[in-house]
Amino acid sequence: MNDQTISYTGPERVFSGVQPSGSLHLGNYLGALVKFVAMQEERDCIFCVVDLHAITVPQDPKRLAAQTREIAAAFIAAGVDPKRSIIFAQSSVGAHAELAWILNCSARMGWLERMTQFKDKAGKDRERASVGLFAYPVLQAADILVYRATHVPTGEDQKQHLELTRDIADRFNRDFDAPGFFPLPEPLTTGPGARIMSLKDGSKKMSKSDPSELSRINLLDTSDEIARKIKKATTDPDALPSEPDGLEGRAEARNLVGIYAVLAGISEAEVLGQFGGQGFGVFKPALAELAVEKLGPVAERMRQLADNPSEVDRVLADGADRAGAIAEGVLKDVRQTVGFWSP
Ligand code: TYM
Repeated sequence: MNDQTISYTGPERVFSGVQPSGSLHLGNYLGALVKFVAMQEERDCIFCVVDLHAITVPQDPKRLAAQTREIAAAFIAAGVDPKRSIIFAQSSVGAHAELAWILNCSARMGWLERMTQFKDKAGKDRERASVGLFAYPVLQAADILVYRATHVPTGEDQKQHLELTRDIADRFNRDFDAPGFFPLPEPLTTGPGARIMSLKDGSKKMSKSDPSELSRINLLDTSDEIARKIKKATTDPDALPSEPDGLEGRAEARNLVGIYAVLAGISEAEVLGQFGGQGFGVFKPALAELAVEKLGPVAERMRQLADNPSEVDRVLADGADRAGAIAEGVLKDVRQTVGFWSP
């Protein structure tokens, strides 16, 4: 669908978002947060706690603000620098919702009906799903396009939504005869850590919604919990192979080796060079030690920030001002392009 050459010539900018809908886990950390930190070396970055997305399914109003602070704290604890990058809550910049409405009129029902995340989340009872859950990917497109972001780092599960964002941007540019008005943002959904699987079932991704606590490592888990979950992770009885090819058909083993590789910043081949021929009795304690070493300081910083919410509030307020200023500028162009009245 995207055959229009990218004629967008504006600056490069990174945008990504995380929902405040529960505790963050290792998948979120490796698939998103670690990438965010790496990105800020290269480009201007905007990282958003997407509370408007969270309310597409019921949330406890008494807890939502605290959950939003917790995600912002996780960004900071992981290494996002709030002076360099913008960190803010989606609902504090009204332009997201306004652009989403306008893009609702460019997006097509058929495109949204193909979204697998809606099918998964709505389940069998689609009639009772909120309209917001159906329109969710259009709001995601608005998040990105309201900053004319050019690069979007996420885990692999967001790939379909990011392709839709490109289609919506392209459609808007064509509908309004404005080539290059919106960039067609590049999804950065691959690479190590892009798809961390459940510790209990190597065929399912690690997820907040998995009923089994043992399926995931939460960022705020204690060292003992991390070690216990790794010890109890499902594996097969064989020793580790000495080459990555030998992981074929061994999803759980591949997942643990992959996690070790990303945490250590080395390749799977290097991990297997070290542990090939060894059983999980040796590998799991080594992985637990590494996970505790890497995640412990992140959890500790998150706890410090939880004890000091005004520090996080200052970051979110400053981020809202900076994000709002950029978004308002783009929205002004959008309003003009669409032809709305203005004084
Ligand atoms: P969310 O909140 O579900 O997840 C946040 C980030 O974590 C990544 N992720 C994973 N990565 C690797 N392995 C896993 N098992 C795993 N589970 C989750 C997700 O890919 C994501 O990067 N729709 C988005 C939020 C959003 C957004 C945006 C993202 C709203 N607007 C604009 C980018 C740009 C979501 O629900 O992410």
